[in-house]
Amino acid sequence: MKILFYGAKNYDEQFFRKLFPRYPGMEFTFIEANICPETASLSQGYDGICAFVNADLGTAVIEKLHQYGIRLILMRCAGYNNVDLETAKKYGMKVLRVPGYSPEAVAEHAMALVLTANRHTHKAYIKCRENNFALSGLMGVNLYQKTAGIIGTGKIGLAMARICRGFGMSVIAYDLYPDQELDFMKYVSLDELLSASDLISLHCPLTKETRHIIREETIAKMKDGVILVNTSRGGLIKTDDLISGIRDQKFFAVGLDVYEEETDFVYEDMSERILPSSTIQRLLSFPNVTMTSHQGFFTEEALTNIAETTLQNAYAFMNGQELKNEVLS
Ligand code: NAI
Repeated sequence: MKILFYGAKNYDEQFFRKLFPRYPGMEFTFIEANICPETASLSQGYDGICAFVNADLGTAVIEKLHQYGIRLILMRCAGYNNVDLETAKKYGMKVLRVPGYSPEAVAEHAMALVLTANRHTHKAYIKCRENNFALSGLMGVNLYQKTAGIIGTGKIGLAMARICRGFGMSVIAYDLYPDQELDFMKYVSLDELLSASDLISLHCPLTKETRHIIREETIAKMKDGVILVNTSRGGLIKTDDLISGIRDQKFFAVGLDVYEEETDFVYEDMSERILPSSTIQRLLSFPNVTMTSHQGFFTEEALTNIAETTLQNAYAFMNGQELKNEVLS
């Protein structure tokens, strides 16, 4: 079975190649180009493609993949909001993903963002390097005995809840499907979570219902001085409303690993280019905003698990076995 691996980085290739001997019968070709309408034709002659969070797998691309005979879409990630599942289903294409490859990797990064945004360690490091040992601008707040509000208590949300407990925080949560067996946190309504939390961390998927779950109206319900962290998907936050909230001094700190307009340049070095939009620069112009570029998943353990599960998914498809990680529309 031949798979075209779109958007390959050197680390992807390294982690996948290590495991190839365990999964005979499959041939992977790694290309740097990401998948989009212009590059879909490269898949001609392959049985399947492998793509990541920043892929364009909308209707036009899926139509083209079908024309070129693609039967399998291997998502090497947990989220699949960028895939037109209905069209894939119409053409009988299977979409497989990697659920929960390392919830702790993302949750630990969420807490790293909280700590960086709160205690300004990124600025303190630069200041110390320049012999500036003054503390002005570096003051934070204690997390101990504060309330963490977790939106979405799946695998990552739960890992984040446990980390927050470890910091001595009370944890409240909101989820469409609360797990009442969990005794170390309390489920509340979204409104209650917004008004009671000192830290709000987003861990629900991006769906029609959750798109812009953080917007003017929900920001207005938050405590003044709240810390907001998003390691889930950019579309959960309406960026213009966030910017207004920051200007209105609503937030003590904001940490973003994902943001609405990331798709065109995430994982690319754009340092020599003029970006077409200034939203990121506007966000970064605020002293209390810290951003990273969708790196929550980026640990050795997570990359190993991603490669392992993606290869298992491909192997199961090739051998007509049960597809445990199929995404159904
Ligand atoms: P999961 O499927 O285990 O959990 C998602 C939770 O959100 C579930 O408990 C579900 O009931 C809840 N949920 C769904 N709709 C909701 C709604 N309308 N309101 C409240 N809760 C709702 O997913 P997991 O593995 O915890 O991942 C969460 C998200 O994290 C993914 O969807 C993905 O967008 C993001 N992610 C980010 C990464 C990064 O590198 N920054 C890496 C991996 C995932």
